[in-house]
Amino acid sequence: MTFTREIKIAPSILSADFADFGREITAIESQGADWVHVDVMDGHFVPNLTFGPPAVKAFRPHVKTVMDVHLMIAPVDPYINAYADAGADILTAHLEAGPHIHRTLQAIRAAGMKAGLALNPGTPAEAAAHLMDMVDLICVMTVNPGFGGQSFIDMTGKVRQLRGMIGDRPVHIQIDGGVTPTTAPLVAAAGADVLVAGSAVFKGGSVSDPAPYGANIAAIRAAANAALA
Ligand code: DX5
Ligand code: ZN
Repeated sequence: MTFTREIKIAPSILSADFADFGREITAIESQGADWVHVDVMDGHFVPNLTFGPPAVKAFRPHVKTVMDVHLMIAPVDPYINAYADAGADILTAHLEAGPHIHRTLQAIRAAGMKAGLALNPGTPAEAAAHLMDMVDLICVMTVNPGFGGQSFIDMTGKVRQLRGMIGDRPVHIQIDGGVTPTTAPLVAAAGADVLVAGSAVFKGGSVSDPAPYGANIAAIRAAANAALA
């Protein structure tokens, strides 16, 4: 994984067919996905439940790009090794998930993964100030986590602030929630480089008709890049 600030589209398989993850992953990658975003929910930190380490491990051989695992679980630490074993390239934990986020980020890197830090909409950028050298990615939530298909909450001020705090460190800024060709330019202009999109990528397509996935990915990418031109 070489670091670049070019726009990357990371479809969330939360919007895929849950009975067909392997072929859905192949379909989005063949249609231009840069990363595959895997939303893990525990029914406790967030009011929804998805899948755990054995499922993520089963996804791994299908992912040829980057497996980006977003944990919406609490606690995180007891499960870090299981996600390393499942083959996560990036493991993202929420700042709000427990009292020892610094330790969690250290443990993620010690387990051989890139460390991501997610911030809920109500959490200020300043909360990440002392974690800048501990992270490879900051995920700015633009919805309250738990469900796909929610509307975008404008966090462009926070993105700009984080972009300044990151400086020249090789830290990605990821946006998660409500990303569409309409909202992508706002966050790209503010400094985000990884755009997660679930419903806006999967709408209109399927494993047997994946071309809409490609058109949707291309539309989000083009809108984001237009804001940078
Ligand atoms: C929200 C998840 C997201 C989300 C994105 O809790 O972390 O990845 O499903 O979905 P859309 O793009 O539909 O908002
Ligand atoms: Zn996510």
